[in-house]
Amino acid sequence: MTVSPPLLSPSALVTRLRAAGCVFAEDEARLLMSTARTPADLAAMVDRRVDGLPLEHVLGWAEFCGLRVAVDPGVFVPRRRTEFLVHQAAAHLGATTRAPAPDRTHPVVVDLCCGSGAVGAALLDALGHLELYAADIDPAAVACARRNVAADGARVFEGDLYEPLPTALRGRVDILVANAPYVPSEAIGLLPVEARVHEPRAALDGGADGLDVQRRVAAEAPLWLAPGGHLLVETSECQAPRTVETFLGNGLIPTVATSDDLNATVVIGTNPT
Ligand SMILES: C[S@@+](CC[C@H](N)C(=O)[O-])C[C@H]1O[C@@H](n2cnc3c(N)ncnc32)[C@H](O)[C@@H]1O
Repeated sequence: MTVSPPLLSPSALVTRLRAAGCVFAEDEARLLMSTARTPADLAAMVDRRVDGLPLEHVLGWAEFCGLRVAVDPGVFVPRRRTEFLVHQAAAHLGATTRAPAPDRTHPVVVDLCCGSGAVGAALLDALGHLELYAADIDPAAVACARRNVAADGARVFEGDLYEPLPTALRGRVDILVANAPYVPSEAIGLLPVEARVHEPRAALDGGADGLDVQRRVAAEAPLWLAPGGHLLVETSECQAPRTVETFLGNGLIPTVATSDDLNATVVIGTNPT
């Protein structure tokens, strides 16, 4: 005989979440109740949340650019601030697509360090037809990204930065987006426990100054970008000057875009024509 767990009333749920330190307990309770399929499911989800699992991992999805993006446990949770990277990429893609190259119909977009694939999924949603390629080194992220973008014809590869991409893409990429890890190693300990404990270190740690992966992305970008194509990376306000230097050192023409609302900084490097 199976014994059903006691039903959690909405107010008891809020109280439990609040006691566990969830600041937006009412909002979380609403999301958990609307996502759980059964009372037993809800009880298990609440237990996982109270144990400290990020809300998005408990729900199985994160809201990003108005989309529900699937996020599996152990995969980086897309952040609100990264919506600015999407806005910037979409704006530059708009500029690029006004004069498409004669040998193709859709702009070519590569989402490196794609994690759940949220950035590519949002670009597909915003712009429709893209030739989208995504890649990540983490098999869990790749599986998740496939769920989020493969239905739209995007291809997702597993491997180190550019290594798994088809070589036929060289010199053809209009937009290369990379939300690579950029937290300096010694600042990892200062991150909220949800990130420190439940997201992979490789998704966060960018080396001594946080820019190790970005430097590798920038160094190889000119080989993959079309003439006039753009590399866009998310960075922090204080790291942006060094990101700009890296772009300049690799022959990319840099500009910096910031959003006060989203507390976000994006450096854009344009491949000369
Ligand atoms: C900060 S997360 C960003 C994920 C996603 N782009 C987003 O914005 O939600 C960084 C991602 O980079 C991936 N990564 C780290 N080093 C990598 C490498 N050398 N090659 C490919 N992916 C890498 C991690 O696995 C992680 O998924």
